[in-house]
Amino acid sequence: MSYKICILPGDGIGPEVVENTINLLKTLPIDLEFIYGDIGYDCYVKTGNSLPNETLEKVKNSDATLFGAVTTPPNIPNYSSPILRLRQHFELYANVRPCKSIPNKISRPGINLIMVRENTEGLYSRSERVEDEGNRAITEMIITRKGSERVIRYAFNIAKKNNMKKVTVVHKANVLRETTGLFLRVAQEVAKEFPQIVMEDMIVDNCAMQLIKKPEQFEVIVTTNMFGDILSDEASALIGGLGLANSGNIGENYGVFEPVHGSAPKYVGLNKANPAATFLAAKLMLEYLGENRYAKLIEKAMLKAIKNNQTTKDLGGSLNSIEFTNVVINNLKEML
Ligand code: NAI
Ligand code: MG
Repeated sequence: MSYKICILPGDGIGPEVVENTINLLKTLPIDLEFIYGDIGYDCYVKTGNSLPNETLEKVKNSDATLFGAVTTPPNIPNYSSPILRLRQHFELYANVRPCKSIPNKISRPGINLIMVRENTEGLYSRSERVEDEGNRAITEMIITRKGSERVIRYAFNIAKKNNMKKVTVVHKANVLRETTGLFLRVAQEVAKEFPQIVMEDMIVDNCAMQLIKKPEQFEVIVTTNMFGDILSDEASALIGGLGLANSGNIGENYGVFEPVHGSAPKYVGLNKANPAATFLAAKLMLEYLGENRYAKLIEKAMLKAIKNNQTTKDLGGSLNSIEFTNVVINNLKEML
């Protein structure tokens, strides 16, 4: 099979981790054509647009997209994160974030959970305004039946596919009664379609605590946009941090895969950033394309490096990004 992969390196360490990942992908005997597109703050400075139409076209005409990271400056009026726009434009409604223990002392053992975050609405609806001469600020939290139903069904299907037995629906329906209340009610309806899977529900603040106290209890977690954003970063800290956290933004027709971390400005150009999160994002991308064997091998090659303590500094090792990449490439070559 041959695939067209749209590559959106973005800002900061985005281009570095993406380049390392492309070198890893090129080791595989699959025919991949890489099509580069611009996105992010540097692109905005150059063109006045952080997500140009040509980029949307490239994503549209590819089989899958690999995205690095972008810088989003908080103080430019009307500037909104292009990755949020990309998720909304292509209706990438499920943000899937696996979190699995690694063989390294930095990681807690026994964790194997998949966080599924609603990705197009909630508090990140981008519907904001100010009143009272800037002294009162309002952000709308939007929850729809359609938006909830599709992501919750996706979460139950992921549980089914991975032979997992439980889906935990995380909400704050005791306070945000209408919005997250609707999310919870829809979950109770969808759960009836999956009698073999147990649904439990948990209030978000308790979930934040339970993740630290007893993370082994979770299998699939599904939740609204901002809760999922925060809880998934928290969960990643249990297994080694943002250097490993990876994600897929998945809709009916498109998939965009990315590390969870941002552009980490302090690491730019230092050859220090851990590309492992982007390797794992590429693994999710290969699964999405149906290349399960190569997806597994990428993970295996990376875990072998980690087990041998051949890692970047954030995981306690002493390798730079390129050295780490080369170790993983060599492991992969041996496994092919
Ligand atoms: P960040 O994720 O860029 O960095 C936070 C810290 O995590 C870093 O200082 C570093 O210690 C660690 N870290 C991140 N990536 C790492 C890697 N690959 N290897 C090793 N350590 C790593 O988050 P921050 O500093 O809050 O935001 C920086 C910029 O990134 C902001 O402009 C923000 O808006 C943007 N951002 C973009 C995201 C995206 O493109 N999806 C997601 C999060 C933030
Ligand atoms: Mg985040």
